[in-house]
Amino acid sequence: MARIPLIAGNWKMYLSLAEAVDLGRAVAASCADLKNRQVMIAPTSAALAAVSAATQSSTVKLAAQNSGWEKEGAFTGENSPVMLKDLGVSMVILGHSERRHIFGESDAMVNRRLLAALNFGLQPILCVGEQLADRDQGNTFAVVENQLRAGLEGVSSTQLDQVVVAYEPVWAIGTGKTATKEQAQEVHAFIREKIETLYEKNLAGEIRILYGGSVKPSNVDALMGQADIDGALVGGAALDAESFDRIIHFK
Ligand code: PGA
Repeated sequence: MARIPLIAGNWKMYLSLAEAVDLGRAVAASCADLKNRQVMIAPTSAALAAVSAATQSSTVKLAAQNSGWEKEGAFTGENSPVMLKDLGVSMVILGHSERRHIFGESDAMVNRRLLAALNFGLQPILCVGEQLADRDQGNTFAVVENQLRAGLEGVSSTQLDQVVVAYEPVWAIGTGKTATKEQAQEVHAFIREKIETLYEKNLAGEIRILYGGSVKPSNVDALMGQADIDGALVGGAALDAESFDRIIHFK
């Protein structure tokens, strides 16, 4: 089965409510002519309801930037996957490097969030990626493998088709420094190989692996031309309607 490319915009903690609604509308319009590609946007949780209403009649998928591991409860500051679904959210970014490294989220926590997302019907994007020191010390594959194994702990073969993986080298996020297409492809192929070991060959062939880290209109075509790169997780360049439109229309 062919893997449908997914271009995902991560808006992080940017944009006023009015700006988020405008950008949501612009992305919806950009997607009107798309065939065989999916587009997702992840506004701040404060803007989800408004962006959901603004993109309702489009093909754009709405995502949250994180989600909790219980349906409800005393978890100040968290968003329940069930409540997110109520807002029209269908996907969620989990284990983003900013969650891991600024807010101290552990692999175990990311795994808990991921299992809950699957149980409550949100499609998770599991982010993995090494820091610069890991790469310099030759630990890229070990770090990525650990995050992948821990993140997918307890995920069954039947649930795996709902999971998307994003490889985001931490040193390339928001730095303007993109991994070369060869560096990205090498890790993507490694991730697919590990999934084959953890699950089976046909599932590894079907799972989508996105690249993230300074994806821009100028580098998206080369990245998307790699055999194991099935899409992009875009931060900075997703905040501008014109550049995101070009990324969505990668060649
Ligand atoms: P960037 O962010 O495109 O600004 O590097 C990517 C991300 O954090 O997902």
